[in-house]
Amino acid sequence: TLPERVTIWEVGARDGLQNESTVVPVEVKLEFLDRLADAGLTVLEATSFVHPRWVPQLADAEELMRRLSRRAGVRYPVLVPNERGLERAVAAGVEQIAVFASATESFARRNLNRGLDEQFAMFEPVVGRAVSAEGMAVTGYVSMCFGDPWEGAVSADQVVRVGLRLFDLGCSRLSLGDTIGVATPGQVTRLLTAFADAGVAMADLSVHFHDTYGQALANTLTALRLGVSNVDSSAGGLGGCPYAESATGNLATEDLVWMLDGLGIQHGVDLDALVRTSVWMAERLGRPSPSRVVRALGGG
Ligand code: HMG
Ligand code: MG
Repeated sequence: TLPERVTIWEVGARDGLQNESTVVPVEVKLEFLDRLADAGLTVLEATSFVHPRWVPQLADAEELMRRLSRRAGVRYPVLVPNERGLERAVAAGVEQIAVFASATESFARRNLNRGLDEQFAMFEPVVGRAVSAEGMAVTGYVSMCFGDPWEGAVSADQVVRVGLRLFDLGCSRLSLGDTIGVATPGQVTRLLTAFADAGVAMADLSVHFHDTYGQALANTLTALRLGVSNVDSSAGGLGGCPYAESATGNLATEDLVWMLDGLGIQHGVDLDALVRTSVWMAERLGRPSPSRVVRALGGG
């Protein structure tokens, strides 16, 4: 069985632009977010309140949130790693956050400068305060859910352990990240089944596939068949992680929308408007979108 409706978490402005070699001007980011809202997307991950030296591409987070015209019915979650990040996000009027954990020791150290256990000590006061003092719903990302460039294959048990600790801290949803895009549908089935066996409802999981090996769409379909209905993707297939070797772009939102249309699953997105947005963004970035659907429909 497939869900009747999928909620798309558009991560292009954050996951996409954090990985560009140049810093995209804030005006372009603002227009990008406006166009994505015009195209009907209702969850737009806007930016990250991380250390500006770690991710200079998103150092304009305060200015972006100040100048953003927030639409009714659209949510603008941001990434927050620690208490300093939460203070900044709250001061900027952010209403929803995500913390981002690693399933592996190696990536926790590289991405957060913390060990696998230490990362939870960093997140605990963030999630605690966000939920109880700010009334926020907090998503917990888990990165390297299927493979890690330094450690190789990652077991489902290890990912479930990390995920359950995020729920214990107060996260209301997990986003399961294939950061380097190595997963295939059999692994997706095994991981989601392991979460179900641990008592986690599919309604509380999102999937977040990078498309390095061209498996992101097949992996997403596998997750939909198992009952997942929240999917992360990025317009035009932008994306990657500056702290993960071999990370490439996310599943392109256009590729997802094309498939959902074919399956008769509702999503609320105007595909033509979205393709025009990705073509416009590709011109700003100076290279074509890697999305097959953008290339097929984008007129050149
Ligand atoms: P650290 O160097 O250990 O920081 O970095 P610290 O806690 O030791 O603090 C050092 C200084 O930084 C202090 O200043 C802090 O105030 C300041 P000082 O007292 O020395 O003057 N500081 C900050 N300033 C501004 N904003 C902050 C902040 N935090 C500390 N938030 C830290 C630790 C977590 C900050 C760093 O490792 C970091 O920023 N990492 C972010 C890396 C990142 O953004 N990666 C990409 C996102 S994850 C991803 O893409 C994967 C995902 O898409 C899912 C998937 O694909 O799997 C989500
Ligand atoms: Mg990602």
